[in-house]
Amino acid sequence: MAAMQRPRYRAVITGAGGGIGAAIVRELAPLSDALILVGRREGPLHALRAELNVPAQVVGGDLTDPATLAAIDAAARSLGGLNLLVNNAGLSDFHSFESQPVDAIRALLDTNLLAPMLLTRQLLPQLKAVPAAQIVNVGSVLGLLGFPGFAAYGASKAGLHGFTQALRRELSDTAVEVRSFAPRATDTAINTDAVTAMNRELGTAQDTPQQVAAAFVAFLGGQRGHLTLGAKERFFVRLNGLLPAVPDAAIRKQLRIIRNFLPI
Ligand SMILES: NC(=O)c1ccc[n+]([C@@H]2O[C@H](COP(=O)([O-])OP(=O)(O)OC[C@H]3O[C@@H](n4cnc5c(N)ncnc54)[C@H](OP(=O)(O)O)[C@@H]3O)[C@@H](O)[C@H]2O)c1
Repeated sequence: MAAMQRPRYRAVITGAGGGIGAAIVRELAPLSDALILVGRREGPLHALRAELNVPAQVVGGDLTDPATLAAIDAAARSLGGLNLLVNNAGLSDFHSFESQPVDAIRALLDTNLLAPMLLTRQLLPQLKAVPAAQIVNVGSVLGLLGFPGFAAYGASKAGLHGFTQALRRELSDTAVEVRSFAPRATDTAINTDAVTAMNRELGTAQDTPQQVAAAFVAFLGGQRGHLTLGAKERFFVRLNGLLPAVPDAAIRKQLRIIRNFLPI
């Protein structure tokens, strides 16, 4: 019943050539009238576009470059406006914070936090011009539950969560909904072999990009401001908010294993 009430989407998806992004695009295409696929490498974006039965435009560029934001804005106008922005592009860097290169820390914050904020700002006039629109920011469980080796990545995703919540409230008297969607570990290229091996040894559950995309599209059709994927992860995120000393102690016990996988 809810699916019948969905608007047809005119959407911008960043990181559309990546694991989760491409899976979201495939799920979204049958529900959409137009898609704009964004990423630095154009090859995967053109290959994906060739699969789709919906008008789609590729914008190749780095989201930390203001010219890319302007190109996305122009592409959306040329396709007749948009009602959905999915800020999905992201980087990760599993590293001991003390030895993590400063450039890597900056890249995480620029790509995962500042770029979605500035793209949102750029596209807001178009999003406000339609009867109903959504911005969905793809966060991470690691932005809600701090984890060793992910201090800078977690900070970028925690920042994105805070941005999402504040902007949702700032725009709550408009027709633009601002929402966040936090996957748990997912089998994509963002995770190095070391991260995947660590997750296996720690018993961390891992989703497929297809599972994440199906949950994403269900979330889009609902009303919740935020969704964290995984019942166990949701429980620990709640516990972390109420009694952070409990996850502190549990993660302290995992630290020896985690350190074995950290780059030196
Ligand atoms: N996989 C997980 O375990 C997991 C868990 C929780 C949350 N997430 C989040 O899910 C989102 C998607 O990640 P994924 O797992 O699908 O990783 P992925 O396969 O590496 O995809 C990330 C995409 O982002 C694009 N990208 C990165 N930096 C960019 C930039 N500066 N400008 C434009 N595009 C850029 C990349 O394309 P180009 O290289 O071509 O630019 C790539 O297609 C990310 O925000 C990630 O943090 C992932």
